[in-house]
Amino acid sequence: MASRNSYGITAVVLWAIDRWHSNRIGMAISRRIEEIVNHWRYTLLRARLKSCGSGTSFHWPVIFIQPDQIEIGQDVSVNAFVHVWGSGGVSIGDRTMIASHVAISSVTHDYNAPVMRATVVTKPVVIGADVWIGAHAVIVPGITIGAGAVIGAGAVVTKDVPAGAIVVGVPARIVGERANSAAAQAKTM
Ligand SMILES: CC(C)(COP(=O)(O)OP(=O)(O)OC[C@H]1O[C@@H](n2cnc3c(N)ncnc32)[C@H](O)[C@@H]1OP(=O)(O)O)[C@@H](O)C(=O)NCCC(=O)NCCS
Repeated sequence: MASRNSYGITAVVLWAIDRWHSNRIGMAISRRIEEIVNHWRYTLLRARLKSCGSGTSFHWPVIFIQPDQIEIGQDVSVNAFVHVWGSGGVSIGDRTMIASHVAISSVTHDYNAPVMRATVVTKPVVIGADVWIGAHAVIVPGITIGAGAVIGAGAVVTKDVPAGAIVVGVPARIVGERANSAAAQAKTM
C-alpha cells in the first residue's frame, strides 16, 4: 500500500508537470522531446524490419514481434496499438492502411499438443498493396489479402480475401466489391 508520503510526492510531481505544460515554452519542449523519441523509435524499428519502404509511417505505440521477418512496402500507415507477430513471415504491400488496434499474426499454437505453450506453428500472412484494414480487425495466420481489399472494423479474417473485395464481420464474409479497385477495373477491360 502506498504511504501518505508517496501520495505527497506524486501530488508534487503532478503539480510540477501541470505547471510545465501550462506555459508555451514547456509545451514546445515536450513536443520536441516527443518528436526526437519518436524519430529514434522509427529509425530503430526500420533498422530491425526485414524491409521497409520510404514514406511508411508509424503512430506509436506499435508492437512488431520478430521484425526481421516482416516486410513493409512504401507509404504504408500503421496506426497506434497495432500488434504484428512476424515469426511466420508477414508482408504488407505499398499504400496499405492499417487502423488502430489491428492484430496480425503469422504464429499460432498446436491446440492438440499436451502443452500448447511448447508448440509454435508458423504460417505466413501476405497483405497486398492498397488494402485498408479497419480498426480492431484480426488477421489470423496463413491469410492472404488481395490488393485493394477492404477489411471492415472489427472483422476476424479467417479465409483469404480476393483483390478488391469488402469483408466484414466475425468470421469475415464478403459483402461487396470496391467499384474502382484495380481488380474491378481489370474485369471491365
Ligand atoms: C466496412 C466499411 C468500410 C463499410 O462502409 P459502408 O459501405 O459505408 O457501410 P454501411 O455503413 O453502408 O453499412 C452497410 C452494411 O454493412 C454493415 N457493416 C458496415 N461495417 C461493418 C463492420 N465493420 N462490421 C460489421 N458490419 C458492418 C452495416 O451494419 C450495414 O448492414 P445492413 O445493410 O444490414 O444495415 C466500414 O463500415 C468500416 O468498417 N470502416 C472501417 C473504419 C475504421 O476502422 N476506421 C479507422 C480509421 S482509418
